[in-house]
Amino acid sequence: MRQQPVVAVLGLGAMGHAFAASLLKKGFRVQGWNRTRSKGEDLEAAGLQLSGSAEAAAAQADVVITMLADGDTTRDVAARIAPVLKQNATLVQMGTIGVAATDALIAQIAAARPDINVIDAPVSGTKAPAENAQILVLASGDRTRAEDAEQVFAAIGKGTQWLGEAGASSRMKLVVNSWLIGLMQSLAESTRLAEQFGFSTDDLWQVLEGGPLAAPYAKVKLGAIASDDYTPQMQLTWALKDAKLALEAAGETRLPALENIAQLWQQAVEAGYGEQDLASVYAWLKRGDE
Ligand SMILES: NC(=O)c1ccc[n+]([C@@H]2O[C@H](COP(=O)([O-])OP(=O)(O)OC[C@H]3O[C@@H](n4cnc5c(N)ncnc54)[C@H](OP(=O)(O)O)[C@@H]3O)[C@@H](O)[C@H]2O)c1
Repeated sequence: MRQQPVVAVLGLGAMGHAFAASLLKKGFRVQGWNRTRSKGEDLEAAGLQLSGSAEAAAAQADVVITMLADGDTTRDVAARIAPVLKQNATLVQMGTIGVAATDALIAQIAAARPDINVIDAPVSGTKAPAENAQILVLASGDRTRAEDAEQVFAAIGKGTQWLGEAGASSRMKLVVNSWLIGLMQSLAESTRLAEQFGFSTDDLWQVLEGGPLAAPYAKVKLGAIASDDYTPQMQLTWALKDAKLALEAAGETRLPALENIAQLWQQAVEAGYGEQDLASVYAWLKRGDE
């Protein structure tokens, strides 16, 4: 059997922390780094080697994962680690950073370190699926040199969909998230309308259940609304970031509903809902109606 690669996880937020935990459970040697060190400390008991800098974490690794908030942060960290990466290591970019930053990152590494294989690999699935290794990895790049990365994907997710040249996955990720964002806004508005007519979230779900409209995602978000618990699975701020990235990358393609949602969610973020789960747009709409 092929030896397990040494993995570095840069960014131990909701998603990166879950990836590191899954890798440790499956016996990988894992180096971790997070700007706020305390977020990785609970994993030290499970074997995480927590470093004080991204460079120190990345230097010994065969596969380096970036799971950071946005493109600027990711490109900045990539520029710092590029000189110290092991020869022929694999850099796996898993955050949702959009098309322009992904293309720039690929070019940046190709110029600085042509030996490095960059895999563009954003994921579909939120915090809970990540904690249960149930996310889907959307991978693109040179698969012929990605055996190490594929071992990592098998440990953190339920499957990998290869989509072509590096950069393709970040495009598909924006497609998927524009669908998710539309679904969330529509669910929030339908729930408000149901309430106006005197129906509960349970009444709504029971009508949907068993039919083609009963998306499991909608069930989870109706549950959050019913319990008024917006502990973030996916922060509203990051969902708004993704709406903006999709609009930015859309070119001539008109996305009028997404444009409206981005404007609305901007207001919700400004009203203080940004760090809550995106289902909190329901609570924001409700507050506005009262
Ligand atoms: N949560 C989801 O459902 C989900 C699903 C798929 C993809 N994603 C994407 O995955 C990425 C991470 O999401 P997440 O949910 O894990 O977010 P998160 O919990 O907010 O974590 C964000 C990470 O980025 C780091 N970071 C932010 N600004 C930084 C800076 N200026 N310098 C250094 N580090 C910085 C944070 O460090 P600190 O801890 O120090 O702040 C943290 O490690 C995002 O692109 C998100 O859109 C999220």
